[in-house]
Amino acid sequence: MGGVNAEEGKWPWQVSVRIGRRHICGGTLVTNTWVLTAAHCILRRFQYSVKMGDRSIYNENTSVVVPVQRTFVHPKDSAAPTVQNDVALLQLQHRVNFTVNIQPICIPRENFRVEARTRCWMTGWGKTQEGEESPTEILQEVDQYILHHEECNKKMQKIMSSTKDVIIKGMVCGYKGQGKDSCQGDSGGPLACEYNDTWVQAGIVSWGIGCGRRGVPGVYTEIGIYSKWLIAVVNQATCLYPAVFLSVLLHLVLPLGILVAL
Ligand code: ARG
Repeated sequence: MGGVNAEEGKWPWQVSVRIGRRHICGGTLVTNTWVLTAAHCILRRFQYSVKMGDRSIYNENTSVVVPVQRTFVHPKDSAAPTVQNDVALLQLQHRVNFTVNIQPICIPRENFRVEARTRCWMTGWGKTQEGEESPTEILQEVDQYILHHEECNKKMQKIMSSTKDVIIKGMVCGYKGQGKDSCQGDSGGPLACEYNDTWVQAGIVSWGIGCGRRGVPGVYTEIGIYSKWLIAVVNQATCLYPAVFLSVLLHLVLPLGILVAL
């Protein structure tokens, strides 16, 4: 909310996660068969699909809709008291062809932490106001500044009048000011940061208290903490992987070995 209409093709990794024709969450394309989203978006065994390639959420003629084959929710996700390990992967039924409007985003390496004060971008079709009903038609973008854990906890404690640290490992906060925030329907979508012309997804829209309230940050899943899990899921589910990997390794290592032996 509080954002502006995104240009066509500006965020080519953005997908809409749907049940039937209903948008329920955002997500991002990370390879041609995998979509990253939030765990709390995947609650039951519905038939999910993803829609991509279009900034309009209703328009279907120019976009690609792919059914989801399997969902992988982080095993330790929990809803109470706050959402933890809010990350899930969706394996698509078939590969998508990349185009100018359909491209994957980079996932950070293990333990990558986005620095405080970095300016990143959140995109989604979520509500543009706290009380609103339906999602917005055109993809919205809004910038967010990353907050230190400590600073975010202080802000949250003030709002919740508590002394507990609610922002724990695996979460990262973003804030820009009143009215600039993610909101319902944005969950699962990206918090993307640009490093030397490369877009890296630092966070997944996860939770907040209301939307866009003054002094209240939005909370994102910190992806760097989960890279290991993400890679493990993709490797295990792609059953060809060990064989392919081994043969590639052998092809690479054997000639090298011979070279070195020589
Ligand atoms: N949980 C929400 C969703 O399912 C996202 C909420 C984000 N809220 C916020 N104030 N940043 O879409």
